[in-house]
Amino acid sequence: MSGAVLQVSGLEVTFPGIVRSSSILRGIDFGVRQGEVMGLVGESGCGKSMTANACLGMVARPGRVTGSIKIEGQEVVGRPEAQLRTMRGGQVAMIFQNPMRSMNPFFTLGQQMIDVVRCHRSSSRSEAHSIAVSELKAVRIPDPELALEKYPHQLSGGQIQRALIALALACRPRLLIADEPTTALDVTVQAQIVSLLRRLADEKELAVLFITHDLGIVSQLCDRVAVMYAGRIVESGSVDAVIDHPGHPYTAKLLGTVPAVGRGARDLVSIPGHVPSPAYVPPGCAFHDRCDRATGLCEEVHPTALISGPDHVTLCHHTICDQQPTEAS
Ligand SMILES: Nc1ncnc2c1ncn2[C@@H]1O[C@H](COP(=O)(O)OP(=O)(O)OP(=O)(O)O)[C@@H](O)[C@H]1O
Ligand code: SF4
Ligand SMILES: [Mg+2]
Repeated sequence: MSGAVLQVSGLEVTFPGIVRSSSILRGIDFGVRQGEVMGLVGESGCGKSMTANACLGMVARPGRVTGSIKIEGQEVVGRPEAQLRTMRGGQVAMIFQNPMRSMNPFFTLGQQMIDVVRCHRSSSRSEAHSIAVSELKAVRIPDPELALEKYPHQLSGGQIQRALIALALACRPRLLIADEPTTALDVTVQAQIVSLLRRLADEKELAVLFITHDLGIVSQLCDRVAVMYAGRIVESGSVDAVIDHPGHPYTAKLLGTVPAVGRGARDLVSIPGHVPSPAYVPPGCAFHDRCDRATGLCEEVHPTALISGPDHVTLCHHTICDQQPTEAS
């Protein structure tokens, strides 16, 4: 992908086991361009966080990472830890699901922000303080000077997540990885964080990889989306293409789990069956035991990528697109 801030190609992550090894990621390819928000969706255990960790060079031992991950053209796979530390918080920053746990409860927001800014931008204490104030203003925290004096427990969950976004952006990263950053927040605060991220991507031309299990949020926030199942991306494309015309039966089922407007969460349907364990991924298409369209071919042969439309790729033998798919090169 030309102009990609993040380019992932043939990424595989394997963990050795006593009986058998676990293939957590089984050949992941995607890119995120400047100013673009890319959604990574899928059920629990499909490998979303592992993809994020790999992009930050943070796969725990004894995990083995192969393939290529480039951030602004610089290879992450195999890079020495000291250089990775400089990239993290510099070119790439990350925010997580539980904002409270991402902050040190014993230091004020100001102490934490100033330390991070000084570490990555070699500025004086007073310059770092001014940068922290302006970053808090950018994420619309009221009275930033006062907020810097507060300890994490004196801020609300939404304020902390905003502060963490400010902290992440204080070092001017080109790429922000957000792993379920709104899951722990109530719906109103969720919507505020989603619109904040959209504005920041547009204004700062930030590339954002947004991980979620919620296709509803993807349709509000993202430009493009990649749907993961059992360690692979099974469908990807523009949000309009994938959500309006899903080609993969798994995407269609995930869409069926999104509550419609006016329908409560209690009406949420789940997909029968489970994501397979990475140690026991079935042969052929890994989704075949949960798929209504599965045939004998699906049980034996791994599907190849098919182009279902402009910028829309589906990994399925029997796609549900209206257009005739062609084989991806
Ligand atoms: N350190 C590890 N060692 C071995 N297996 C791991 C390790 N970390 C994660 N896994 C396994 O990798 C698979 C993918 O995990 P991952 O955390 O990426 O899922 P996820 O898509 O982020 O799920 P969730 O939506 O629940 O956060 C899971 O089966 C998980 O058990
Ligand atoms: S390849 Fe077969 S089993 Fe897999 S999603 Fe497509 S139709 Fe279903
Ligand atoms: Mg996760």
